Amino acid sequence: MSEYRIQFNRPSIAGAELENVREAIEGGHTAGDGPFTRRCCEMLESWTGTERALLTTSCTHALEMCALLLRLEPGDEVIVPSFAFVTTAGAFALHGAKPIFADIHPDTLNLDERTLRESVTSRTKAIVALHYGGISCEMDELQAISSEAGATLIEDNAHGLLASYKGKPLGSFGRVATQSFHETKNFSCGEGGALLLNDVDWIERAEIIREKGTDRSRFLRGQVDKYTWVDLGSSYLPSEILAAFLYGQFQARETLQARRFEIWGNYQRELSGWAARNGVELPTVPEHVEHACHLFYLILPSLDARTRLIEHLGRSGILAVFHYQPLHLSTMGQQFGGRAGQCPVTERVSDCLVRLPLFSDLTSEEQADIIDVVQSFQV
Ligand SMILES: Cc1ncc(COP(=O)(O)O)c(C=O)c1O
Repeated sequence: MSEYRIQFNRPSIAGAELENVREAIEGGHTAGDGPFTRRCCEMLESWTGTERALLTTSCTHALEMCALLLRLEPGDEVIVPSFAFVTTAGAFALHGAKPIFADIHPDTLNLDERTLRESVTSRTKAIVALHYGGISCEMDELQAISSEAGATLIEDNAHGLLASYKGKPLGSFGRVATQSFHETKNFSCGEGGALLLNDVDWIERAEIIREKGTDRSRFLRGQVDKYTWVDLGSSYLPSEILAAFLYGQFQARETLQARRFEIWGNYQRELSGWAARNGVELPTVPEHVEHACHLFYLILPSLDARTRLIEHLGRSGILAVFHYQPLHLSTMGQQFGGRAGQCPVTERVSDCLVRLPLFSDLTSEEQADIIDVVQSFQV
């Protein structure tokens, strides 16, 4: 049994997930690209306005598909925030790119346009915008910088499904965008993801890459009478069992999101006085942004205070966690030229940030308990 009364995350059944899984199995189609996959993709297309959504086995795999779509050549560089998940950079490095690490804004924790501009070279092939916590990057500026650099803009939208920037959905700004349906995300099937294609010219190749390098999708549409190996690719499509589960979560979109908004709002309201008295920063949501309520974090004034708060919560049986380690200081990041002091905001935030439990099944009593324990902590 866990030593924690309140876990950091708890998977939940929001509605028809299990009935959908049964229907998929009884319908005799459990491999990929059956009716539930199609329904999930149609929902993603209608929510984001993307030309074409493809379900994938993870966001990491969707990022790898982006790397393959880019046709990377030796020497190509891909700029990523250093405050990011490993595969936001690793997926491109795996396919031959050199990741270049840029720093973040201290308030939104998203790519800082100034350090981004300084990172652009004639070798810049792509820029990856990660909307941290589902709070949008400054997309007007990122689009301008990418087009001046002649680079492809990619959105790592793992956190930001249903969020928007100036009224336009996240996932619709990059040439491509990626989503995650990992256990901790707003909508989940355990492990899963999606690729959103906003450029029709990339759709057919993306289908081929996802289907082991074959033109099976064309075959299934009756466009060719047999399918064969036509390009490089791998196996990036999830089974119908996962798609059926995910569709159940999508059907419960309003309930799931409403509960996350409530929890996020409670943290914000109840902890703001305590935070101001203790020099703790809470998330910043710019006015022109609608966010996804993906996560709630606190930035403590020091590493020592962060460690003590995690221990303080742990003694009360509450699991709170830190987040990304700076990629430029990781073992691999240093092999790509990362060095201490390169991204000072990332280094500070990474030491000082703590995430509180936020999942749709968190009860009001559990949240009140977490808030009380945080408020009893003196920095
Ligand atoms: C920003 C970001 N991108 C990508 C990923 C990878 O997602 P997945 O686990 O679906 O591969 C994560 C995982 O949490 C993430 O936070």
